[in-house]
Amino acid sequence: MNFNNLLFEQIDNIGIVKINRPDKLNALNRETLTELKTVFEVIQNDDSIFSVILTGSGEKAFVAGADISELNRLSMLEGKKFAEFGQEIFNFIENMEKPVLAAVNGFALGGGCELALACHFRYASENAKFGQPEVNLGIIPGYGGTQRLPRLVGKGRAIEMILTGNLISAEEALSIGLVNKVWKKEELLDKSIETLKTINSKGQQAIRLAIKAINAATTDNLNSGLNYEAILFALGCGTNDFKEGTSAFLEKRKPNFTNS
Ligand code: COA
Repeated sequence: MNFNNLLFEQIDNIGIVKINRPDKLNALNRETLTELKTVFEVIQNDDSIFSVILTGSGEKAFVAGADISELNRLSMLEGKKFAEFGQEIFNFIENMEKPVLAAVNGFALGGGCELALACHFRYASENAKFGQPEVNLGIIPGYGGTQRLPRLVGKGRAIEMILTGNLISAEEALSIGLVNKVWKKEELLDKSIETLKTINSKGQQAIRLAIKAINAATTDNLNSGLNYEAILFALGCGTNDFKEGTSAFLEKRKPNFTNS
């Protein structure tokens, strides 16, 4: 499979998808999201692939968020569509019948943290950093972060992360249950493969049924929550603070919010 912004390889029955825009810290532009959708659709229908690792290429990032240069231009209506587009792909990943393990190898920020949250479980390297820094841009998470983060780490932790925009270390992410394990950078992929090999050795029908059943435990009311998030994300796109926050990032300066 050939993509502009993804790398794909298969080791035994494991598909490895690498987001590959290292010069932009693997930020998710529209083309990358579209390619992600395609690769997961292909994997879903490929009987030789039992499970998937999703990771980032380069030394620094898993995914540093949605591409802010695309965000910056959004009107309110476009903002709603933008959120819904990402949500649809992340829902597809969450609803995959094959286990998807996020191997978080660096920054997992904004849409990157949300992408990791949509995966079935997460391993991190020691240098990984997690955060929902959208408020720094005058906006809120729009790819499911307001819904999946509280479900995983509890409301108090999620509110603190989303309202402060602070980044947390891999160790802290481990302590709040955001990731299952932390590995040395050079071990992350091998350990991820080892775990998936264990899962792949089980009866795959049982694995599929278990994912469906466990998803049902956490996706109650998820769709209405996601709809509401998309509407509130769109409202944020109509504010002056959003234009200022995203422009400030692109111009490499501090934002001057007017709270309007
Ligand atoms: N969207 C678009 N471009 C991004 C990006 C994003 N989310 N995150 C990083 N980049 C780009 C930078 O603009 C820079 O591009 P340039 O070299 O053409 O100027 C390149 O990736 C490297 O990033 P840089 O900021 O120089 O690296 P750093 O090590 O100094 O800082 C971060 C790393 C992750 C702290 C910083 O890039 C950052 O804050 N990114 C945005 C995170 C964010 O707000 N995500 C949520 C978006 S909704």
